[in-house]
Amino acid sequence: MADAATLHFWDADWDLRVAECPCDVHFVEWLDEMGMRDRTIYHFGTGGHHYVGVECAKPERRNAVLGITASPQEYERYIKLVIARPDVLRHYNCVFGDIYLLNEKLLPSFDIVTLFHLCEFRGEKTDAYRGLSDLHVANLLTDKTKPGGFILFYTGSYAFDWEGPMSAKRVIADWEKTKPVKRVGLYETLLVYRKEG
Ligand SMILES: C[S@@+](CC[C@H](N)C(=O)[O-])C[C@H]1O[C@@H](n2cnc3c(N)ncnc32)[C@H](O)[C@@H]1O
Repeated sequence: MADAATLHFWDADWDLRVAECPCDVHFVEWLDEMGMRDRTIYHFGTGGHHYVGVECAKPERRNAVLGITASPQEYERYIKLVIARPDVLRHYNCVFGDIYLLNEKLLPSFDIVTLFHLCEFRGEKTDAYRGLSDLHVANLLTDKTKPGGFILFYTGSYAFDWEGPMSAKRVIADWEKTKPVKRVGLYETLLVYRKEG
């Protein structure tokens, strides 16, 4: 990881490991089961495989995905991917960034937001440049979710219910008290909420 004063980036390249981390595969299955096509999606944590972006770009889905990765290696794989496949670039944009530095002014509204890796990557290094809290991230992206849209969490995340500084479960408990959202239920490993309206 980088020094305190510099960006807390992710120095790794995550391949699709469905047995260990099935959230992205479950997400695409959920999209299909719900008949979600031509939607706009914000996806936190693309992985180097860029599975969600690639799958969503297919003609049978045509969902527009804005993904974020904090890994230079994963971002480099995205650049190679879309140079080879402009058909994917048309529907899938990936930014290199830090979810804790999200700027609402730079975001459109979305039909669906994934927050699968909430609480996994925030730490003292994020504090060094006054990054957002996990609750702030959840609130900001909820504000950017269209009424009737969906927000999904990943119950298989190691930070979902851990003893760490803040678990996703605790953030969700605080978040749902103040935001106009309703718990829809579980789909495989995913916890699905719907924004009212
Ligand atoms: C364990 S990988 C999982 C990738 C994919 N969702 C999957 O399940 O296969 C975690 C992902 O979160 C991203 N990530 C880590 N810290 C981040 C941050 N601060 N902001 C945005 N993305 C981050 C990494 O770049 C990586 O793509």
